[in-house]
Amino acid sequence: MDTSVAHPARRYNYWLGGKDHFAADRESGDLLAEAFPTARVAALENRDFLRRGVRFLAESGVRQFLDVGTGLPVPDNTHEIAQRMAPESRVLYVDNDPIVMTHSRALTIGTPQGRTGYVEADLREPEVILAHPELRAVLDLREPVALLLVAVLHFIHDDKQALAVVSRLLDSLPSGSYLVASNLTLDYAPPAQVAMHEELLASGKTDARARDKSEFGRFFDGLELVEPGIVAVSDWRPDREERPTAQDVAIYGAVGRKP
Ligand SMILES: C[S@@+](CC[C@H](N)C(=O)[O-])C[C@H]1O[C@@H](n2cnc3c(N)ncnc32)[C@H](O)[C@@H]1O
Repeated sequence: MDTSVAHPARRYNYWLGGKDHFAADRESGDLLAEAFPTARVAALENRDFLRRGVRFLAESGVRQFLDVGTGLPVPDNTHEIAQRMAPESRVLYVDNDPIVMTHSRALTIGTPQGRTGYVEADLREPEVILAHPELRAVLDLREPVALLLVAVLHFIHDDKQALAVVSRLLDSLPSGSYLVASNLTLDYAPPAQVAMHEELLASGKTDARARDKSEFGRFFDGLELVEPGIVAVSDWRPDREERPTAQDVAIYGAVGRKP
């Protein structure tokens, strides 16, 4: 594990106010927050979208979750939200950061009625994820599964590769399964911020590729979009009146159901 290089999980943890980060992660987090002053707000809103998405799915009867790009543990992890509503819920976490693996114990203590598991794997290798014995032990792929790809698709820059990964995973899930996804967007950003983002991306100082609404929407091709469709994560079935603007949040989120 190279702690001298910033990694998305630890930088995101820094923005969320966690304690699992190193100097390189804080430097990278501060640099990006200088260019995008609402980066921390965006991280919090994204996490809240994940919470509301999982609650919605649990209310809709979904009992299995495949959460790829898990991130470091937070007070309300996917299995805690789902199992609070339905203790029999089963959750498999997947992340490629070894530091998330070292914290996986906190992610795998769940209810006795349910089951949770953790696999260290890369989203770019869906075959490895699908063939993993832990996946088969935790999830029954004959029953609906919610695939969570929240704030992780933007780390796969190539559209063709990202789309292929999503459709490979969804192809292995039955009808009634769901996709919950979010992705950085610059659709609401002023031109100066777009230029700044491009500069940071070209110099390797940021690793997230923004997608516009139609690029993001392609991940949901063939799925039935749940209301309100593709919106800023803060506007997806919000549970409070006062919220940051779509420009401040700059992350699209959506939920789709496989017919
Ligand atoms: C910004 S965090 C999002 C965490 C969580 N999904 C959320 O939205 O709160 C992104 C996570 O994706 C993980 N990640 C990035 N690229 C990945 C890849 N190719 N395969 C698996 N995980 C990846 C990072 O390690 C990090 O934990």
